Amino acid sequence: MFFHLFPFNNIPTSSRIVIYGAGRVGEDYCRQINAINYCSILFVADMRHSEMSGRFLGIEVRSPDEIANVDYDYVAIASVREKYMEEMQENLSRIGVPKEKIIVRKHVKEASLFSASPALDVDAHYIDEYRPMILEGVRDGINPFQGTQRAVGIADGILRGLVLRDPLFRQALAAMNGRSIVTIDRLINIFLILKFHLNSGCAGSDIVEFGSYMCGSAIFMAYLASRLYPGMNIYALDTFEGMVLTDKRIDAHNEKDFADADMEEIVEYLGEAGITNLIPVKGPFEQTASVTLAGCKGVCLAHIDCDIYDSVVCSYQAVKPHMVDGGYIIFDDATTGTCLGATKAVEDILYHQERKHTEQMYPHMVFRSFDRS
Ligand SMILES: C[S@@+](CC[C@H](N)C(=O)[O-])C[C@H]1O[C@@H](n2cnc3c(N)ncnc32)[C@H](O)[C@@H]1O
Repeated sequence: MFFHLFPFNNIPTSSRIVIYGAGRVGEDYCRQINAINYCSILFVADMRHSEMSGRFLGIEVRSPDEIANVDYDYVAIASVREKYMEEMQENLSRIGVPKEKIIVRKHVKEASLFSASPALDVDAHYIDEYRPMILEGVRDGINPFQGTQRAVGIADGILRGLVLRDPLFRQALAAMNGRSIVTIDRLINIFLILKFHLNSGCAGSDIVEFGSYMCGSAIFMAYLASRLYPGMNIYALDTFEGMVLTDKRIDAHNEKDFADADMEEIVEYLGEAGITNLIPVKGPFEQTASVTLAGCKGVCLAHIDCDIYDSVVCSYQAVKPHMVDGGYIIFDDATTGTCLGATKAVEDILYHQERKHTEQMYPHMVFRSFDRS
């Protein structure tokens, strides 16, 4: 079935938006936004608001004229018909909505490209320009082709759009139920690695996450692993009581940030959602990591998402000897502005001490572990 992708590339996460159009496109937009708590929908605007009993998918419907009375960041026009799209833009200009706040996405090309095959086939979308790199395979401890393909495919929107339509990806997002603060592009990359790029050396291994908060990204990975690699466990390590002591010379975060996580609530949620391959491990990594990792079958993916210098160093050093050949180490926040401690940890240890190379810089830093290198 034809699916209308929300203009994720033009509307940043957490924006306050009005969806203009309460039809099929508006419905697709609202569902995608709500599934991942992407941004805040102030209301849905539609000329037929008076015929619609005031609500659309549980969201308030109002007259488009009311857009002028609210504090919005963007108005997303939700239509496929050019004639309507033009009329809607004219309407918005008439009530004073600035041009740069009006987001219009044309869906015609996507319909012809994707409607025949809604499931993702990543091989069919290799970017030819980068294909010569495939001949190199692994070089300097990274696979340049795969890293480039994922990074470019997510940034330019082609792979991104395909993944957002992939039924497995959408089920994993739904299982996560808005519990994660990890960005959508980073989740897409984790999906691509897990579904397409784990190599045979990863068989029979586990995933470890350092920094799980409400276990959103851990649940996302657990859902995918349960469908793709039965027997794979996800160990989610966190104090579940907030950030440990931070180093204020480099870390913007403070002790007790993220203190609203609640281990009991997490365990209850996992039970309700039927997620049985996720093991939350409570306590500071300094106390829990080595004993947890000693019980793993080897680690194919380490998701290091703990924001601050000491914790990132501790996580990496603990997991490194347990990585399987070809395994992935993702530093979620080393390229995030508020996590300079995480950046410095990567620079100090992986770049300066170990002289390693990065397989991928966008949407997060990805390193590989080959033969314990
Ligand atoms: C950015 S949050 C993790 C986000 C999560 N992955 C998600 O899906 O939303 C960072 C977490 O790291 C945890 N953390 C940081 N340093 C830690 C340490 N040394 N031991 C245990 N937990 C730590 C904090 O408690 C916090 O919950």
